[in-house]
Amino acid sequence: MSLELEWGFIQPLQKASTPTAALSDFHPGSSNEHSLFDEADGHSISSASVAHSIHPDPLSGPMAWYGKNIKPTDYIVRLTSSELLQIRAAVIHFKLLKLDCSQINKTTFPLPAELSAKLAEASVQLHDGIGIVVIRGIKAQSYNAEESVIAFTGVTAHICPDRATDYKAYMTLTHIRDASRDPVPKSAEGIGLAASKLPEALKFHADRFSGDVLSLYVADSGNISGQGEQYFASSWTVYNELLKTEPQVVETLQKDDWPWEVKDRDGVPHLHLGPAMYRTPDGKIILQLVHAPLKGNTRIPRSAHMPSLSKSQEHALQVVEETARRVSMTLDHQRGDIQLFHNLSLMHARSAYEGGDNKRNTRHLLRLFLRDPERCWEKPEKYADLFNSPFDNDFPQTFPIIDDDPWRKTAGSLSHG
Ligand SMILES: [Fe+2]
Repeated sequence: MSLELEWGFIQPLQKASTPTAALSDFHPGSSNEHSLFDEADGHSISSASVAHSIHPDPLSGPMAWYGKNIKPTDYIVRLTSSELLQIRAAVIHFKLLKLDCSQINKTTFPLPAELSAKLAEASVQLHDGIGIVVIRGIKAQSYNAEESVIAFTGVTAHICPDRATDYKAYMTLTHIRDASRDPVPKSAEGIGLAASKLPEALKFHADRFSGDVLSLYVADSGNISGQGEQYFASSWTVYNELLKTEPQVVETLQKDDWPWEVKDRDGVPHLHLGPAMYRTPDGKIILQLVHAPLKGNTRIPRSAHMPSLSKSQEHALQVVEETARRVSMTLDHQRGDIQLFHNLSLMHARSAYEGGDNKRNTRHLLRLFLRDPERCWEKPEKYADLFNSPFDNDFPQTFPIIDDDPWRKTAGSLSHG
């Protein structure tokens, strides 16, 4: 999966309406957990009101799919040889402009109207269809590292023009690869690696407050077949299944007492109390259950001072994982693919790509989080700022062509995985 999921980045919290509290102010077992919530937010949601907010009926429509019914032809969009030449021409056009990648858009990366419209159509499938699109045909070996970044960013600008930027390192483009065998410079000693830099398997999750659409470019699909497989599940189907089998888990997911660990720019852990499941004003379900900010990862352990999950929350994690696996599908992928996933209605996971026998898996993906302002979902009012802040900021966008600093730039920020 990419599921490249570390825990998604959370943007500056000054605009956020969700409760946040400094770890130093939190005392497990004391009553100030809730008072902090009230202080930050001005009000709280009672357990009773949360229970009443559970959607009473199953969700229907193309987003509520079962993996066994999804075929590659349902999500692969093939580029013709002439379209590939048009994309190459746009890459050259942009290079000649001598602009920074942050200035890539439909004007600076021009494509013929027919191809631009074909790409824009993908956004319909992302937001109102099954939520998965794979643009296939690009010959990755024909582009150097810089051109790959330009082609990926340029093509996706015709589908979802808004790009998210991490508040901590101002990262817009992230490299997903195994950096665990990289020699650690003195300056990076003691700094953990995020899930995007580790070859470990990742359970089903959605990247939290990272962006509406997760997009990946398969620069290298890996030199060891069967590793790093990507799995997807419809969160709507998971929700429907839970309503039938364990409705109390839905209630747990919607409660606003999940103890998310968030690291600020200074690296100080903060407690962020909030739900794992949201409902939009028009009744859509958003599931943002992600493990790292709740459990840590092998290189960035959860702070010892963070509260533990409750028994019902631990149970919810387990049941959601089992349910997602049961209804999931394995993505058809190959080198050069541009993959797009609706991060608000899907969960993703991946298998490990740890190589073995001292062989390093060369798997290498590029990642962007995107938004189509014309089709994006309306967000739950209470949490709208957190959902939108990765896009609605003035941060400088950063596109590292080479991933030469996997520790400082990406690790420890916040959230995927
Ligand atoms: Fe993820």
